[in-house]
Amino acid sequence: MLLILNGPNLNRLGKREPGVYGTLTLEELERQCELWGSELGTTVTCRQSNFEGQLLEWIQDAEEHGFTGIVINPGALTHYSYALRDAIAGQNVPVVEVHLSNVDAREAFRHHSVTAAVCKGKISGLGFAGYRFAMDYLVEEVGG
Ligand code: DQA
Repeated sequence: MLLILNGPNLNRLGKREPGVYGTLTLEELERQCELWGSELGTTVTCRQSNFEGQLLEWIQDAEEHGFTGIVINPGALTHYSYALRDAIAGQNVPVVEVHLSNVDAREAFRHHSVTAAVCKGKISGLGFAGYRFAMDYLVEEVGG
């Protein structure tokens, strides 16, 4: 049972900088993740918030709610949120960090992730497919 979390500004997918993030919407991404979940034989719950504290609470509660893996695109929180880093580090559910764009090919402030070190790994630059690869890994690793 996988939890897919999208952070600040990802509700604007499709409208927001389409040259960087593409023209598909968050709703389309979430439907795609649900389809991939059924292909992989696992249940997927998708959530998005522009609020750091909300993301922290979802992560803190994930194990208690029965989630076995988390895919997270923390948006810009990636680059500075020690609170998000500590929330991930302070719980037991494996987390994979995903970025739609290739953060290493963009502005210098995007090159550093404060959260990646406490995740199983990081996928960047592969668009929606990054979520799929993260889900594949988590199902393989923890059995969905
Ligand atoms: C992003 C990359 C971040 O640097 C940016 O702040 C985002 C989206 C991505 O998916 O490429 O909001 O996480």
